[in-house]
Amino acid sequence: MDSLRSKENLNQFERIFGKTNTNPRLFEAPARINIIGEHVDYLGGIVLPAAINFSVHVFLRPNQTNLYRFHSITFNETISIKKPFLSNQNAPWTDYITGVIVELEAEGHSIPGFDLLVDGNIPQGSGLSSSAALEVVTGFAISECFGLGIKREKIAVIGQKAENNFVGTKCGIMDQFIIAVGKQNDCISLNTDTLNYSYHHFELGDHEFYLINSNVKHNLKDSAYNQRRLECESALQKIHSKFPNFKQLYDVTLTESEIKNCDLTPDEFKRTKHVISERERTKQVIEGLESNQFSKVGAALYEAHDSLSKNFEVSCEETDFIVSQLKDLGVMGARMIGGGFGGCVLVLDKKEGFAKINEEMKKSYQQKFNLALDFYKFQISDGVKEISI
Ligand code: GLA
Repeated sequence: MDSLRSKENLNQFERIFGKTNTNPRLFEAPARINIIGEHVDYLGGIVLPAAINFSVHVFLRPNQTNLYRFHSITFNETISIKKPFLSNQNAPWTDYITGVIVELEAEGHSIPGFDLLVDGNIPQGSGLSSSAALEVVTGFAISECFGLGIKREKIAVIGQKAENNFVGTKCGIMDQFIIAVGKQNDCISLNTDTLNYSYHHFELGDHEFYLINSNVKHNLKDSAYNQRRLECESALQKIHSKFPNFKQLYDVTLTESEIKNCDLTPDEFKRTKHVISERERTKQVIEGLESNQFSKVGAALYEAHDSLSKNFEVSCEETDFIVSQLKDLGVMGARMIGGGFGGCVLVLDKKEGFAKINEEMKKSYQQKFNLALDFYKFQISDGVKEISI
């Protein structure tokens, strides 16, 4: 977000919460993409996300009272709360902030009252993790402003707990983690079982990744997400009772017929198939990126989409259409990213193809769904940080 908008937000902060001797501090958290490893981060899988240059900004200043006052620029709304903290159905955006305070206090920190103003340009419902960015920036800003010194990795876990326990979406750790630890130009490979991770830099040469926003967000998103997680847990339980060595669904190395013998329901079988095949595709993508074999990467992205659509059943008509059109147009690879049911498609292609694809896709999508498509080029950027004003 540019510095002019930050200055306007600072003025707005002082208009709403008053001017004192202490200036509010400004913090920024990025959006994220995920190259491969979708719907495996709550199953002990490996994911390959990167932070990108859309962001959520937060101004925060302690207020020496027992009030927590939040203002959203996007919703043009100010909410003031006190303990005990309850979910706010009328202003659901505040739950991401309140949830973080609750989780910090559950960790033994005492968080006094503060004023917070939030603004952002991450398209909501686009699968780029605007909510995780709000959780992480809130946790980081509180930690810095009250001198708690909490490590980035821990802030990610607190953000995930806020989402799981207070907001009620049983998300994995990927989004909060990359938003907390991201580094300019690098993606990470994160083992979601151990939380060990390492930074990777890939040279794409005359290729590029970009995003296409389907501009749809289907309502099912949260309920279906929690449902998928339950199906994976029950599949693992059944497999584990016959093959006790497997502690995570991601680690299962059985044949299809061995899995079928575990009495899985047809849905549990399909979910398991996605998870295990995603593990193989992740290897393929990492090898392809390391050896500049981009067609190998692209093929794995298309296969991942197919599996997310048919086996995990988290895609939708619009994103399926985008991916199949891209394939027909000879684009190297593409797949839906994030939780699914709309949002963005990640594309890998030769740079020279962009203008033509942009034009053709917008036309055909408009014709089919009477909807606009948005194309985003992005840079891989840093994780959450303080901005000096
Ligand atoms: C959402 C969740 C993540 C992850 C993805 C799917 O973005 O927040 O934890 O599960 O969906 O990979």
